Amino acid sequence: MPKVIVTRRWPESVETVLSEKFEVVLNVDDHAFSHAELALAFESADALCATVTDAISSDLFGPEARVKIIASFGVGFDHVDLESAREHGVAVTNTPDVLTDCTADLAMTLLLSCARRTAEGERELRRGDWTGWCPTHLVGSRVWGKTLAIVGMGRIGVALARRAHHGFGMRIVCFDLYDVAPDILRELDAQQVASLDELLPMADFVSLHCPATADNHHLINAARIGAMKRTAFLINTARGPIVDEQALCDALTSQRIAGAGLDVYEAEPNVVPGLLKLDNVVLVPHLGSATLETREAMGLRVVENLDRFFAGEHPPDLCT
Ligand code: DGY
Repeated sequence: MPKVIVTRRWPESVETVLSEKFEVVLNVDDHAFSHAELALAFESADALCATVTDAISSDLFGPEARVKIIASFGVGFDHVDLESAREHGVAVTNTPDVLTDCTADLAMTLLLSCARRTAEGERELRRGDWTGWCPTHLVGSRVWGKTLAIVGMGRIGVALARRAHHGFGMRIVCFDLYDVAPDILRELDAQQVASLDELLPMADFVSLHCPATADNHHLINAARIGAMKRTAFLINTARGPIVDEQALCDALTSQRIAGAGLDVYEAEPNVVPGLLKLDNVVLVPHLGSATLETREAMGLRVVENLDRFFAGEHPPDLCT
């Protein structure tokens, strides 16, 4: 039986399936692995089931490494040094598809929450500061009829566009390095524009759905935030480093844009302290895929990748 080390707790049902199929080492107290623990895992297991909290850096792929596959639990794989993995012939897999809808739901939640000031209102009510209904109380921004700009029209970007257009009557504009399929643009009555700089000034809401590549580091910086409408909102459920978090904090402080909804941060679990004091930002702790159904499906997707890999086949979600 191949030996598999799992770096975090997974839904119990999936840990059971894993334990039936492999010689599994579980992380019973769910602590985040230290670098030394990752190094030990690399030397002692055939497979490492990692997550976004494990920095799989180049030095781990040393001559002592026994690991043949990093089967990551999550769609993003920016925490793994893919080049080193390729160089050392280590397979890397992720878990796409199964988390698309829940992540799009969370992006829509943030969009609605910052437009309608629900988090701010909840804080006010819990503090005991609500004095009753009045026509000017916590007046937000209408969503229907507004323009949503999607940066990255992959699976999650399209799923959000569907919710926003068909469910909330929003107009969709988008930017992607690739041509979006004409039938998708037609279905969404959407317009694809040629550049981010063309896209940003058009939008009432901007939602990020691109990967955290080196090219996308601080894609949304002070200048790009400055190109947005003063009344616009920024939503990020993709990855923290895509946004210059301090620049965003400054822009929200000076009300250069109306607000933001964030699920991801540059240095998780830390957040730029200034953001915590602002009412015009909704902050949630990396919850995009956090439903039981999706987390179980992600786990089973990892199991399928491991099964196929150890059967000598091509794992379905190979990233290397
Ligand atoms: C994902 O699937 O990429 C989530 O953000 C967790 O890593």
